[in-house]
Amino acid sequence: MPTLLITGANRGLGLETVRQYADDGWNIIACCRNPDTATELNAIAEAAEGRVIIEALDVRDHAAIDALAKRHSHASIDLLLNNAGIIGPRDGPGQHFGDMDFEAWADVLKINLMAPMKMCESFVTQVARSDQKKMAAISSSIGSNTETAGDAYSYASSKAALNMVMTTMAKDMAQHGITVGVFCPGHVKTDMGAPEANVEIVDSITGLRQRFAEMNMERSGTYRRYNGDSIAW
Ligand SMILES: NC(=O)c1ccc[n+]([C@@H]2O[C@H](COP(=O)([O-])OP(=O)(O)OC[C@H]3O[C@@H](n4cnc5c(N)ncnc54)[C@H](OP(=O)(O)O)[C@@H]3O)[C@@H](O)[C@H]2O)c1
Repeated sequence: MPTLLITGANRGLGLETVRQYADDGWNIIACCRNPDTATELNAIAEAAEGRVIIEALDVRDHAAIDALAKRHSHASIDLLLNNAGIIGPRDGPGQHFGDMDFEAWADVLKINLMAPMKMCESFVTQVARSDQKKMAAISSSIGSNTETAGDAYSYASSKAALNMVMTTMAKDMAQHGITVGVFCPGHVKTDMGAPEANVEIVDSITGLRQRFAEMNMERSGTYRRYNGDSIAW
């Protein structure tokens, strides 16, 4: 069976991704910051009888990413999914014109932008030796110049830059036969998306899994929504 490596696997979209791939029999390396308190993830791992391995990982810690890659140096990773993300300051000052919190912005960039780059760098060998050879990142339509809501400088810029990183990488990865994609999950009812979001977690991940399954060289470097729509940059 194929193997998924995912960050931010303990709640929200990451947790549901693990649940669905585990149900389909995949092997999973599920990374999260605090495995001890990841109750639902631990329950999935227990039911999967060894197919789901939980690894502690704060994606800001590049030494920890390298150590993880070393521990799994012989693995074949079919799908590397950069899912972990933060929105930055919300419900108040912090990422609007005139009140920018630059330290918080730096943290958003470390998690949403630099970590996916570092994960892809550290795991390229394991992805290249797999059958499916896919690297993906969960972006957002907020990172699109045509769709952005326009008032969340830290988050929007992190996703716009992530799009650039992944599309640039698509060109580099072609030599390894690796396909790369950026995806928007929709506005989803997670802690980040909040209850007023209009997409259920299960529907977003069901759609995204179809998009991951469709990834190929022709589509490498594209930006698509969970429902299959293309998103304008
Ligand atoms: N929900 C939406 O409407 C929506 C829309 C567009 C894009 N997205 C994107 O979808 C992805 C998942 O979001 P979500 O809605 O599932 O959000 P969520 O429920 O807030 O979950 C975020 C996940 O990221 C993890 N994370 C945060 N900082 C981390 C770090 N430094 N190291 C490792 N993991 C870290 C969290 O772990 P902890 O529990 O340890 O904090 C959690 O597992 C994100 O990239 C987000 O930007 C979401």
